[in-house]
Amino acid sequence: MPMTTSFLGASLRSPVMIASGPASHDVNQIASAEEHGAGAIVLKTVCSDKFAYMRQWPRPRYKLLDWDKQIGGRSKQFTLFAFEQGYSGTLADYWTFIEEAKKHAHVPIIGSAFADSAEDWAYLAANIERCGADAIEMDISSPHRPGSLEFETTFVAGIQAVVASVKIPVLVKLASTPDLLHQCIVSEQCGASAVTLCNRMRGIDIDIEEQKPILHGYYGGIGGPWAKYYTMMHVAEAAQHLSIPISATGGTMTGEDVIKYILLGATTVQVLSAVMVNGWDAVAAMNRDIESYMQRKQIQSLDDIRGKALRQMTKPEKIQRWPGEPKSGARNVWK
Ligand SMILES: Cc1cc2nc3c(=O)[nH]c(=O)nc-3n(C[C@H](O)[C@H](O)[C@H](O)COP(=O)(O)O)c2cc1C
Repeated sequence: MPMTTSFLGASLRSPVMIASGPASHDVNQIASAEEHGAGAIVLKTVCSDKFAYMRQWPRPRYKLLDWDKQIGGRSKQFTLFAFEQGYSGTLADYWTFIEEAKKHAHVPIIGSAFADSAEDWAYLAANIERCGADAIEMDISSPHRPGSLEFETTFVAGIQAVVASVKIPVLVKLASTPDLLHQCIVSEQCGASAVTLCNRMRGIDIDIEEQKPILHGYYGGIGGPWAKYYTMMHVAEAAQHLSIPISATGGTMTGEDVIKYILLGATTVQVLSAVMVNGWDAVAAMNRDIESYMQRKQIQSLDDIRGKALRQMTKPEKIQRWPGEPKSGARNVWK
């Protein structure tokens, strides 16, 4: 049964896309992603020249935290901590990267950019379009973005400038913040074609022997399988208010996770950590999981289940509540 997914005017063979990052930084990774069944690829984010320092990264820049650590011998989780900022080449290198990717790829290629002024955004977007990218994703949500760039003062103008300067679809990638729904709505009003929810959060970890922060000694991006739960909440919330599609990203490890996002209203799901920790086979495995789920549940098209769980969500005032534990008696007798 086909997993074909219509997204931003393209027909994707799978809803599973490669998210922007180290798995989409080099042109030969495009072939690996395709070979393993990715539906589309978002390239590593390029920064405007003002942020050229973000093109160099510390070494090492990744650490798997709590990998294989069992808590009390029972639960198991991990966090991927990383400090990797923009694409490591120059803008000219990035334009060539897109052109080369487009020459060989059979799946849509999405360029990704970061800037802090409307002028720079428009410049990056126009070049990404000129080099043949099928869409542009605006990474306005990186856990590494500098200073105190605000959505209303910095990014709204950026979205408007990008939408005005290109004809290709514009995705706006947002982070988990208390006003995320508002940012989604404003992005749609500014003409975004889709939102990508959610970028990773900023975190820190401490080496208790050295009594200092790990790795480069500063905050890093954090994510892991646990990230899907708050991202699913954001997707559910956004899906109830937006008419543009949602590309979900965060904590997807299996095809089951992809299906959960689709049941909550996402159109596509962008994955990265699973590829970093389990290799490209993770993508093929997700596709197999989705196919077998579709067969088992007799689903003809993913469109048939999109948002189905969302429609089953109740309202807070309708939650069936239990009258409660007794407040006196044995419960309050100190032994
Ligand atoms: C090492 C690393 C580098 C990343 N670089 C970028 C980036 O350049 N641009 C971007 O928009 N997101 C970047 N991301 C975020 C991913 O694109 C993705 O949205 C996020 O990791 C959540 O998906 P996952 O849980 O499947 O990894 C990066 C993530 C990691 C782990």
